[in-house]
Amino acid sequence: MCIGRLSLFALFLSVVCLPFSCQAQSRTDAPHLEKHGAATQLVVDGKPFVILSGELSNNAATALEPLEAIWPKLVASNLNTVLVGVSWAQFEPEEGKFNYSLVDGVIAKARENHMHIVFLWFGCWKNGTSSYPPSWVKKDFVRFPRIQIGESKTVSVSGPVEVLSTLSDATRDADARAFGALMRHIKEVDGTQHTVVMMQVENEVGVLRDTRDRSPVANRAFAGQVPAELMNYLQSHKDTLIPEFREVWAANGYKKSGTWEEVFGPGKPATLEIPVQTTVSLLGPLEHENSWQHLHWASDEIFMAWNYARFLENVVHAGKAEYDIPMYVNAWLQQPNHAWPGTYPSGGPLPQVHDVWRAGAPDIDILAPDLYLEYFDAVCERFKRNGNPLFIPETNTNPANVLMAVGKYDTIGFSPFGIDGNRPIPPDLATVYDLLDQMAPMILAHRGTDSITAVRLNQGDPPKQVKLGNYTLTLTYTGRNTHIAPQPKSQILASPQPSSMTGAPETPLEAAAILIATGPDEYYFVGGGMRIDFTPNTPGPQNVGLGDVQQGKFVDGKWVVTRQIAGDDDAQGEILTLRPYTILRVTLYRFP
Ligand code: DGJ
Repeated sequence: MCIGRLSLFALFLSVVCLPFSCQAQSRTDAPHLEKHGAATQLVVDGKPFVILSGELSNNAATALEPLEAIWPKLVASNLNTVLVGVSWAQFEPEEGKFNYSLVDGVIAKARENHMHIVFLWFGCWKNGTSSYPPSWVKKDFVRFPRIQIGESKTVSVSGPVEVLSTLSDATRDADARAFGALMRHIKEVDGTQHTVVMMQVENEVGVLRDTRDRSPVANRAFAGQVPAELMNYLQSHKDTLIPEFREVWAANGYKKSGTWEEVFGPGKPATLEIPVQTTVSLLGPLEHENSWQHLHWASDEIFMAWNYARFLENVVHAGKAEYDIPMYVNAWLQQPNHAWPGTYPSGGPLPQVHDVWRAGAPDIDILAPDLYLEYFDAVCERFKRNGNPLFIPETNTNPANVLMAVGKYDTIGFSPFGIDGNRPIPPDLATVYDLLDQMAPMILAHRGTDSITAVRLNQGDPPKQVKLGNYTLTLTYTGRNTHIAPQPKSQILASPQPSSMTGAPETPLEAAAILIATGPDEYYFVGGGMRIDFTPNTPGPQNVGLGDVQQGKFVDGKWVVTRQIAGDDDAQGEILTLRPYTILRVTLYRFP
């Protein structure tokens, strides 16, 4: 019986897959991105792959021995990939002399632990500043010039501004040469095994403490014309530009040429100080509420975005010329109380300047958010616009977020920051990673179609309705309410019982689930903390019965039932509850 279902399922999957060339390329291809319907997937060794990861703290891999204790922890928590920093200073301690020992050691250990790696190239910039370049770069501020801020100062209220300027060919070429050498070496040692699946280039670039570089060379560039490449890109993408960016161009009359301020409006006066950390608003309360996500002193941020993008395009290009695997840049995000460029790194790949990055750095595959904001879903939406694939290199360990990112926003990966830290990796995250690892082939096969989505519910939220396959699903929060039998419909309380009445732990669960329609009357659900009701949305009998309700797991890709659910567990066939962190397979039937 199980075999029959599986072959039907296989048939369904092949129907889902065929239009999207999911017959991936050969196992020998380097890791790459591939379109799958509306989604973009990472393909490793000929198969789509979802990165279930964590990022090590910045300096965890600056020596191999202390890393020893970390690998078992990552494996025990079901990570399939780890994000690891590579410091330029250690990689090229003397100009032109490269030290591969740390990179090789990390790759060897990852293989031993059956894990993949994403390396983070800490080159010229990390969190806006320049603390990772080698001493021979840092000491030579003539060959490798720094930015200036305010009234052309190299010192801010909080100390020297040790930030390399984007406007130096020497700096750009030195960074690009080193990154090229890194990629050449990775290809030599990993070009066939594919332990390394992606690269992050630099980290959270952008100018802090002012809106832009105000060194003499930067001031000259800012007073000059907006480059023709950018203007041409804007003209040819006019209808699809990110709305908050287009607004700025529109407000200044959609000019086809001009200086940065003529085309994009005024920059910030050099003399106007902005707080380092904005706790007192420069915006009115209404603006704070509504417009913190927009561009402020737009021309400064756009100017910096262009210059970082051009610089990084050179670095990425040099790397891809050696070994072409997916490469991304990450953004420190604007926030309600850090709304002005300079309180977050000005010019980084934030959503409002994605078009500028796309125009300036076409070789960069992904513009990625470091996502600690509570508006998790809204940020995912903003980063997915215009076909940008989502990848979340830094975030917290919230298991509901990983379910949403994987099930609804097609993320290529999810990676809480500081995974090696002192605190244990939360067991809930490890459990969800395990469930997602089991479900990955099915999830990835359905991506890019309308047969998969995900839903999040918090305690007190009204029920949500989702049209999926042949039914509309009504999802109602139940939280951790696992150990009492749901009551038959006639006795259902108007709102879920508080956990104090049920003896469940006090912290409310943030419920989330991935919902997949796998056949006309069949669903798989993963996640939990919610009740699911079904209403048909096709003609025919309108009453819906629960057929097979199976809790289970995938073992080597085969569905194994661990509990067949009926009776008290589904209120005598009337109520389907997806308990926290479970996988359910459910079939339905209809009757008059
Ligand atoms: C964001 C940075 O990108 C990381 O490298 C790290 O510094 C974290 N912030 C610390 O929270």
